[in-house]
Amino acid sequence: MAYGKDVFDAAMRRLEQRRQEAEDETARTRAELFARIPRLREIQDELAATAVDAVRGMLTGGDAAAHIQKLKKINLDLQVERAELLTAHGLPPDALAPRPHCRLCGDTGYVGDRICECLRALLRDEACRRANSGSPLPLRAFDTFDLAYYPDTPLPGTDATVRAYMGRVFTSCKDYAERFSAESPSLLFLGGTGLGKTHLALAIGGEVLARGFSVIYDTAQNIFARIEAEHFGRGGGQFTQTVYDCDLLILDELPDYATSFTNSTFYNIINTRTLARRPTIVSTNLTEQELEARYGQKIFSRLIGDFWMFKFFGRDIRQLKLKNKVF
Ligand SMILES: Nc1ncnc2c1ncn2[C@@H]1O[C@H](COP(=O)(O)OP(=O)(O)OP(=O)(O)O)[C@@H](O)[C@H]1O
Ligand SMILES: [Mg+2]
Ligand SMILES: [Zn+2]
Repeated sequence: MAYGKDVFDAAMRRLEQRRQEAEDETARTRAELFARIPRLREIQDELAATAVDAVRGMLTGGDAAAHIQKLKKINLDLQVERAELLTAHGLPPDALAPRPHCRLCGDTGYVGDRICECLRALLRDEACRRANSGSPLPLRAFDTFDLAYYPDTPLPGTDATVRAYMGRVFTSCKDYAERFSAESPSLLFLGGTGLGKTHLALAIGGEVLARGFSVIYDTAQNIFARIEAEHFGRGGGQFTQTVYDCDLLILDELPDYATSFTNSTFYNIINTRTLARRPTIVSTNLTEQELEARYGQKIFSRLIGDFWMFKFFGRDIRQLKLKNKVF
């Protein structure tokens, strides 16, 4: 794994914090239930006593097997009594059991000698924070997106107006953000300048981030440049790895020219992420024909085949806003 020590340490600190919180929570629940149902505490003490007794029995010799058998029976009866008592109070039978944040690894971060998915997610998240720290995710919200900027004129080739059509684009993006998961598709935003592509991509990014997923956002150009710098210099590949691994990658403003390096970088990104089923949002001013011409058939067929395409229409909202300011 290409994560640096700082990323690993930060992820482990958060894991430790979760473990502590889960332990505190268990202690609180126990104290509360013992106060409410005193017999529960007695059962707990008796269970502890049988454990001590079992050890003592083994040490003093005698008919250890029979003794252990007897204790096992007592232990089991106590557990049954406890479960029944809890059920009678309308509680789940395991209400006193520890409740780790992650049941797979008990908040240790490891299942056997393999890294648990929860620690992997923390590592991704910490790496993304560092990857974004040069440019923290600028916020654009869904609720500042105003459909009034789109003309109420027919959209050629459809029976809808541009505004109604963009309303559907908006709703799809909002739905996408609210239901985002690893199963979500990748999105391709096409359209002229100032039509709200970055605005919606960032609104999705903000919502997905708020829901606890790791998100990297930047212009495609910046991301390609950092990968290139890492490829030819030092850095250990952490940024590149994070671009491959984050839950959602937003590659904004795909440039309208491609060098052989950006071309292969772009291909590696979408290929790696598609294979790992990790969604990506790509936005560009290029038309489909231009995309194919500049980036080649290999990339183009991936974008058309694997991405949900949204075409943006309307008038340059940057200009519209500027005019409103002047007059
Ligand atoms: N529907 C909208 N309601 C309110 N503001 C909007 C809307 N669409 C875009 N804007 C604002 O207009 C400006 C331009 O929009 P945006 O950056 O999203 O355009 P774009 O499609 O990404 O353009 P480009 O292709 O040039 O990158 C931004 O300040 C954005 O917040
Ligand atoms: Mg933009
Ligand atoms: Zn775990």
